[in-house]
Amino acid sequence: MIIGSSLRHYEKVSSTNTVAAALLRESNPPEGTVITASFQESGRGQAGNSWESEPGSNLLMSIILYPDMVKPAEQFVISQMVSLAVRDLVALHTAESRIKWPNDIYVRDDKIAGILIENTIMGDTLGSTVAGIGLNVNQTVFRSGAPNPVSLAAVTGSKQNLKALTGKLVSLLDKRYSMLIRGETATLGKDYHEVLYRSGEWHRYADSNGEFEGMIEHVRPDGMLVVLRKEGKRVMYAFKEIDYIL
Ligand code: BTN
Repeated sequence: MIIGSSLRHYEKVSSTNTVAAALLRESNPPEGTVITASFQESGRGQAGNSWESEPGSNLLMSIILYPDMVKPAEQFVISQMVSLAVRDLVALHTAESRIKWPNDIYVRDDKIAGILIENTIMGDTLGSTVAGIGLNVNQTVFRSGAPNPVSLAAVTGSKQNLKALTGKLVSLLDKRYSMLIRGETATLGKDYHEVLYRSGEWHRYADSNGEFEGMIEHVRPDGMLVVLRKEGKRVMYAFKEIDYIL
């Protein structure tokens, strides 16, 4: 077991990702160190957004890894590996979970978990990864104005045991990380595409040129999303260059 070799729980932090980054700067935390918190005063989301989580209700976790087998150009595999583990967990509770590119976990059209990956590069490989996971568990009212939040409790209709979920997630993360260590990146890619939200279906999207109908074909190893437009043109998008019309 690598992930979960060291566990640190805090009642209150600014952000578990920030705590993990400070640990990396100040000491040599063992690979697989897991940091959890009951509450974050400044939970961070992707693209500078904040992450809402009421005290004691949800799973807030950051994991420290040293993935020196991953080249910077292939770092999207870390997103795939972590999002698959979180989706593995959600899939134990509902048949309706998918990964929305690049690494949100959705139940039907609602977001149940978000992931914030922060990598450093050392030479020609990754030096360290902080993988931050926020999974909505027992919160049922969201105030931040995030468009479509949902929680496990809302989806299943019953309050969930946060401690048991945390333990299960650590073991699922360890399984998915073992695949990466064994070089099973093709399987991780195949598994990711099998559960990719809206893949192979026609839906509405918007980019800088306006709204259009398109079909997600696949995600390239560098993380770019490939969308076929109704008029036959294939377009590639980086994160934040395309909006899903829900
Ligand atoms: C997103 O915007 O979807 C990513 C959200 C990531 C939230 C988690 S909660 C634990 C960790 N600490 C943070 O400050 N952010 C991540």
